Amino acid sequence: MKIILAPMEGVVDPIMRNLLTDLGGLDRCVTEFVRVSERELPKRVFYRLAPELNQGGLTDAGTPVYVQLLGSEPEVMAANALRAAALGAPGIDLNFGCPAKTVNRNRGGSILLKDPDEVYRIVEAVRQAVPQSIPVTAKMRLGYEDKGLAVANAQAIATAGANELCVHARTKVEGYRPPAHWHWIDKIRQSVTINVIANGDICSPDDYQRCREISGCTDIMIGRGLLQQPDLAAVIVKNRQGQIAAELEWKPILAAVQKYCHQVQQQVAAKHAPGRVKQWLAFLRKRYPEAQLLFDVIKTETNLDAIHQQLKGNSPISAPLKIAG
Ligand SMILES: Cc1cc2nc3c(=O)[nH]c(=O)nc-3n(C[C@H](O)[C@H](O)[C@H](O)COP(=O)(O)O)c2cc1C
Repeated sequence: MKIILAPMEGVVDPIMRNLLTDLGGLDRCVTEFVRVSERELPKRVFYRLAPELNQGGLTDAGTPVYVQLLGSEPEVMAANALRAAALGAPGIDLNFGCPAKTVNRNRGGSILLKDPDEVYRIVEAVRQAVPQSIPVTAKMRLGYEDKGLAVANAQAIATAGANELCVHARTKVEGYRPPAHWHWIDKIRQSVTINVIANGDICSPDDYQRCREISGCTDIMIGRGLLQQPDLAAVIVKNRQGQIAAELEWKPILAAVQKYCHQVQQQVAAKHAPGRVKQWLAFLRKRYPEAQLLFDVIKTETNLDAIHQQLKGNSPISAPLKIAG
């Protein structure tokens, strides 16, 4: 069984990847997408989105980080994939799922699913350019407007030579609305010979179990579920080994948020930094009432130092939560 941390632009950044892989249970990460248009990108673009390239393509915990590319021009995609591989990427992932209007307007992401031949050409060009020792994977949705081409797209990806396929079980127009159609992953899995990884709405060990039964996949990718419950992958792994997993309480989670805040302060542009911390608390509050309390206190705060102080003051072993007003 493999559990992969989902790529999430503006959310799962290098700091978050380090933090979550540190908690265990994760076998791989994928970077936020690198947008490829009409040229070979400078090295600094890859190092910015994947600073792990400076340390063998691994997070601090030693988890491989595949570099995700998003674009539509086979030759340019191939050149950039080769560049990422030369810089030390342990794998290349291709994005056929992004729903963003600006991305789709430039023929990138989920819009490519309207044309399986185009999908085939991109995967084939990248697979041929990148050394065989480096896996090329793809991530797709079930389609753009409907699911009519889901199997054709998956087969295009597989026959073009991809090593693995991750399926986010929704179309572009379904956005992120539940449910994820896990039975469609099963249809896709049965139509290709490569390994298929299930993705979408796995937010608990029970979800994992049900997704496994319905999709037939043992390998999964988790995004939002890990932001809500940072030890979810470790808990799923322990459960599978027949052990009872003690899930993390708020105190160590708060310590992780404090650490995140500190690193965001050092590494993220000041105007984005407060938003990053609030964003994580907004995920955590779905599971931890303490995160909701904290979120309510800091939600209008624009100064990261003040947010950091609130996080420290909120430590269960020091002062009680300071409620504004
Ligand atoms: C804010 C946000 C950013 C995302 N960015 C990417 C991305 O850069 N590349 C990608 O392939 N998928 C991206 N996704 C999709 C996720 O990887 C994943 O497929 C989706 O969230 C469903 O999985 P989940 O229910 O486990 O979160 C993004 C999703 C969200 C919510």
